[in-house]
Amino acid sequence: MNANFASATFESPSYDSKTRFLHWISALLILTLWFAGEFLDWVPRGTPRISVRSSHIVAGVVLGVLLVIRVLWRRAGGVQLPLVGNELVAKASGVTHSVLYALMTAMVISGVALVWIRGDNLFNLFTVPAFDPGNKALRHDAKEIHGWIANILLALAVMHAAVAVWHQRVLKDGLLRRMWPAKPPLP
Ligand code: HEM
Ligand code: HEM
Repeated sequence: MNANFASATFESPSYDSKTRFLHWISALLILTLWFAGEFLDWVPRGTPRISVRSSHIVAGVVLGVLLVIRVLWRRAGGVQLPLVGNELVAKASGVTHSVLYALMTAMVISGVALVWIRGDNLFNLFTVPAFDPGNKALRHDAKEIHGWIANILLALAVMHAAVAVWHQRVLKDGLLRRMWPAKPPLP
């Protein structure tokens, strides 16, 4: 989100607490959502599965709200730090961050679309009517697309996390400190 380049050092400032909170709560939600979605078929049918699926939907909507707050905050008041590395590396991390934002947005949109297309039963309390109940192919494709985006997001997030850990453990440049949720760790 920032076009300047630099090296991280132990004197580097950190992201502000709101940015760090939004980063880690979103990461936690995404991981939980991925597991809940991927292993939903293992949950017994009936009320248990309806409860897990409904919780997945509610948590997904919460992620969407947090995403809007995060983007607004990053643009309005959040600390902007220069990207680390030479021009190429810094560009690559800038692009990665943008793609992560795009994938998070795509997850929320495809999830809401999935509920709308398939229809759903939320906690046995509310019913969302299916957009086109007879269209099995559309329902199947909507779920496949949502699942594929989830897997791509998770794969990119794992790579992104691995790079952050590599900076911390191998390059020992203190990059992870900038985003650390609490007291920044030493390398
Ligand atoms: C980062 C956010 C999210 C992640 C990582 C995620 C992940 C997943 C995964 C992996 C599946 C299984 C797909 C498959 O088996 O092919 C799934 C299914 C589903 N997701 Fe999400 N999801 C997210 C957000 C949302 C949102 C925002 C909604 C709705 C508002 C939603 C609604 C659903 C529904 C209805 C299913 C189908 C469950 C079933 O099999 O009956 N998801 N999700
Ligand atoms: C689903 C999981 C994750 C997503 C979607 C994600 C997304 C992002 C995004 C969009 C940024 C740019 C800053 C911002 O606007 O907030 C960022 C920065 C950062 N993330 Fe993550 N992240 C995830 C997980 C992780 C994990 C697990 C780690 C560490 C092990 C990590 C370490 C960092 C660090 C150190 C930065 C700052 C990079 C810099 O200052 O150049 N992230 N992350």
